[in-house]
Amino acid sequence: MPPSVEIPPRLLQDLRSAQNVAALTGAGVSQESGLRTFRDPMDGLWAQYRPEDLATLDAFERDPELVWEFYAMRRLKGGQVQPNPGHYALAEIGRRIPYFSLITQNVDGLHQRAGSSDVIELHGNITRLRCSRDCGPVTEWKDDPKKIPRCPRCGANLRPDVVWFGEMLPEIELERAIEAARASRVFLSIGTSAVVHPAATLPILAKESGACLVEINPEKTPLTASADYFLQGKSGEILPELVRQIWR
Ligand code: OAD
Repeated sequence: MPPSVEIPPRLLQDLRSAQNVAALTGAGVSQESGLRTFRDPMDGLWAQYRPEDLATLDAFERDPELVWEFYAMRRLKGGQVQPNPGHYALAEIGRRIPYFSLITQNVDGLHQRAGSSDVIELHGNITRLRCSRDCGPVTEWKDDPKKIPRCPRCGANLRPDVVWFGEMLPEIELERAIEAARASRVFLSIGTSAVVHPAATLPILAKESGACLVEINPEKTPLTASADYFLQGKSGEILPELVRQIWR
């Protein structure tokens, strides 16, 4: 099958010789696994639901069952789908490049299931739970997803270990992501609408630090004008092709 996108030879060369590469992924990377993105005007989660009803601490305090149900549904769906060729290609890039940092806004854990290690999760992970009063350690979410379990220490509701609107990102992950962006020679922004900060600042930071900025997305985003290369298409098609052409 011919590649759906022309990959410039110069980019292939840059990646082949790069010692330090970082990638930022968003919901688009998991779209081909069957998970919905957030901002697709037809099918996006935020086209059907209001984030302020489901993805804030206020919402959880107001109506914990409703918020729980939304995340339980997403957690269940996440467990039913499989990583796609884009996830596997990123894991392969991680094995090939001496210093590769994979930064994700996704909470689905599909990068890890595809074999990526040490993933920097900026927005948490839906397969974990923590105390809504932040009193205790993070635990695996394995109970009946319909019932909200209580914190064994303080009795408060447990909540998904994800970042909600208005909340700070996990400090260590954000620091690591900033460092990785600054140190990278090539920065890949993949399957993200690049509108949610601080994640969306990382590609700009990388570019300002001298990295070659590559965007992979079927649609243009606010980042596209700053990208050195815009590879227009699906990450599940472009990334495996990239790997094939770099290391064939
Ligand atoms: P969005 O839904 O905002 O953007 C998804 C992007 O993926 C869009 O730019 C699509 O064009 C692109 N896309 C769709 N299908 C694709 C495919 N097959 N291959 C590559 N790209 C594809 O999702 P995010 O940018 O991840 O935050 O959203 C960022 C954050 O906003 C999320 O982490 C979430 C959300 O509110 C929190 O919940 C805190």
